[in-house]
Amino acid sequence: MTVRLEIETGGLKFQNPILTASGTFGYAKEFQSLTDLGALGGVVTKGISPKPRFGNPTPRICETASGMLNSIGLENVGVEGFERDKLPFLRACGSRVLVNFFGSTFDEYVDCGARLDRLDGVDALEMNVSCPNIKAGGIEFGTDPRVLRDLVRACREVVKKPLWIKLTPNTSDIVALAKACADAGADGLSIINTITGMAIDARTRKPKIATIFGGLSGPAIKPIALRMVFQVRRAGVPLPISGIGGIQDATDAIEFFLAGASTVQVGTQNFVDPDASGGIVRQLAERLAADGVSDVRELVGALKTP
Ligand SMILES: Cc1cc2nc3c(=O)[nH]c(=O)nc-3n(C[C@H](O)[C@H](O)[C@H](O)COP(=O)(O)O)c2cc1C
Repeated sequence: MTVRLEIETGGLKFQNPILTASGTFGYAKEFQSLTDLGALGGVVTKGISPKPRFGNPTPRICETASGMLNSIGLENVGVEGFERDKLPFLRACGSRVLVNFFGSTFDEYVDCGARLDRLDGVDALEMNVSCPNIKAGGIEFGTDPRVLRDLVRACREVVKKPLWIKLTPNTSDIVALAKACADAGADGLSIINTITGMAIDARTRKPKIATIFGGLSGPAIKPIALRMVFQVRRAGVPLPISGIGGIQDATDAIEFFLAGASTVQVGTQNFVDPDASGGIVRQLAERLAADGVSDVRELVGALKTP
């Protein structure tokens, strides 16, 4: 049985719905000898800011039960370094290139979005709104629907390419955030980013990471991510969803499709197995054929609820 994995969603055509999640796959070149990059649906780059950043002090990563905590601090090469040193390889890698970006101020977001939008070889932008808004006392930009709406609207004005917004799960109302993005003209949603957490070393009585708090990722967060994807879908928010959170295999990906995602992104699992995303593409085709599903699009939002 031939299985169709192609999907057109969020303003782009993908050869399959498996993408790599930002910050877990570098700028793709790091993985070229470990997986077939051309077989992936898409690659989402490390978050890019207008200027290079060196990130947070170490230790900035630690393992937790069924997951990991990180506070890398958005270390990256900046827009210029990205264009000069990273984009030429990405342009030729054979899969879709989505560039994740952010700023520390409103103006930095708009500036970064506008500059990345002009680059040939960038297929779409994914905006990370889980950054502290210094002016608002360090609260994440993406936690207040009004601030988020204004930020997305301002970026939308300068970004012609497809613009996806990556939502923060550090909220009590994910649907309000999703609606704000739809109102402001976004093309897609990526759900979810990491969940704020902490880990303590009982022996030394110190936090395990230097910044005390970090972002929790991995299988531990999958039920929360599925819940949020489903809530946004059920609320009828008119934007396609890229599901993210703890995906380890094709079955996990299928669960996200059923909840309402039309693509998925694989994150922490890339650290466990650098060929994880490629493996999921291969597994997905086999799994769907075995289940008699001829088109992956049949699964999107097909959850049977009581
Ligand atoms: C080490 C690390 C770095 C990350 N960097 C970024 C980033 O730069 N921008 C972003 O939007 N998300 C970033 N994320 C979040 C992931 O893209 C993803 O949303 C999250 O890890 C949940 O997926 P997972 O459970 O499959 O890892 C990062 C995650 C990790 C573990």
